[in-house]
Amino acid sequence: MRILTPLSLAVLALASFTASSQSPRAPKAQLAPPQVVAQTPPMGWNSWNFFFEKVTDKDIRNSADQIASTGMKDAGYIYVNIDDTWEGERDASGVLHTNAKFPDMKALADYVHSKGLKIGIYSSPGPKTCAGYAGSLGHEEQDAQLYAQWGIDYLKYDLCSFIPDVMMKQTPDDKAAQMRMMIAAYDKMNKALKATGRPIVYSFCQYGWDAVWEWAPSVGGNLWRTTGDIQPNWDRIYDLLEQQAGLEKYAGPGHWNDPDMLEVGNGKLTPAENRSHFSMWAMLAAPLLAGNDLPNMKPEIRAILTNRDVIAIDQDRLGKQASRVYSDGEVEVWSRNLSGGAIAIAVLNAGDNRYSTHPFHLDLAKLGLHGPLQAKDLWTGKPVTLTQNMPLEIPSHDVLLVRIEAPK
Ligand code: GLA
Repeated sequence: MRILTPLSLAVLALASFTASSQSPRAPKAQLAPPQVVAQTPPMGWNSWNFFFEKVTDKDIRNSADQIASTGMKDAGYIYVNIDDTWEGERDASGVLHTNAKFPDMKALADYVHSKGLKIGIYSSPGPKTCAGYAGSLGHEEQDAQLYAQWGIDYLKYDLCSFIPDVMMKQTPDDKAAQMRMMIAAYDKMNKALKATGRPIVYSFCQYGWDAVWEWAPSVGGNLWRTTGDIQPNWDRIYDLLEQQAGLEKYAGPGHWNDPDMLEVGNGKLTPAENRSHFSMWAMLAAPLLAGNDLPNMKPEIRAILTNRDVIAIDQDRLGKQASRVYSDGEVEVWSRNLSGGAIAIAVLNAGDNRYSTHPFHLDLAKLGLHGPLQAKDLWTGKPVTLTQNMPLEIPSHDVLLVRIEAPK
């Protein structure tokens, strides 16, 4: 028999209170079946990587304006996602209100929708979010209904306080039981979202623990973080990239590995580093959620984020994530199969020195290919001919990204 701790009793009490305080829902028969979402990796922008806790309603509106006017929307960036720190307090009925930074969420969602864009929001299965704001524990159905009423299209659900406040407290010494609780918590919100009848992309954020890629799709995950948080420096970006090798078999239409949001245009990343980061996330079929200061975006950053050829790799409808085929010193060769029999190849010099692997020779045979091959360099836009063992000069932290339409 399970022993109920004071905390679990509190959770149960909260849950039953919530159930009795729910606003009446439409009978199931009247709901349209949820539409299929995330058939290609979601694209958009998220507030966290630039604004962190400071984000306001105005920042979201300004960012939506920029996405619509800079060509980003036309390039495929659709979701405008509010991360943590929008949450206020719950009222006596348990209904969550926004804080003063977000005076009217419905009006904000209407504004974002008026630009032809979609809007995302953030919560936690725990009592608190990572930044210490109200989480959804015990209010999952109520919150899902609220999101649907507001017109929310995307939810990032961040484990955070669920670990110490629920998992560790309820079953301190039983890792397997903790994992079951976590999966059940993600499934609870999954069911609550589905019950709204609104198509809502469901993004898991639990830092890649417990082989999340193996179970997330079964509880509605459209994407799941595979790592801890990204930072705008090369070492961290490369560290996250290295953790993706081998996860390719778990990605596909409707369910994607998420190596975290983009830092393109943030921190002190060099032009080569911004290009490589964007190229490799496209090779990984990663969600492309920009995280930069859009009103002050430099033309060269916009050019990277809106490179249609690179975006087409990410958004390829086959949804086959790249594999790391081989590496030589600090140069790595990744390849990805694309629809129509095409292939993308990325050759990345992850090292600090241009000559770290000098001279680097591209071994087409290791990729199962035979030169000469006609390809397009997706950063210069120019044709290139690839031959067996051709020497390549790739500057430090830069990448050669090519697409081959008819490989042989
Ligand atoms: C965690 C997540 C981040 C961000 C913050 C918000 O650290 O991994 O992406 O959402 O929480 O508090």
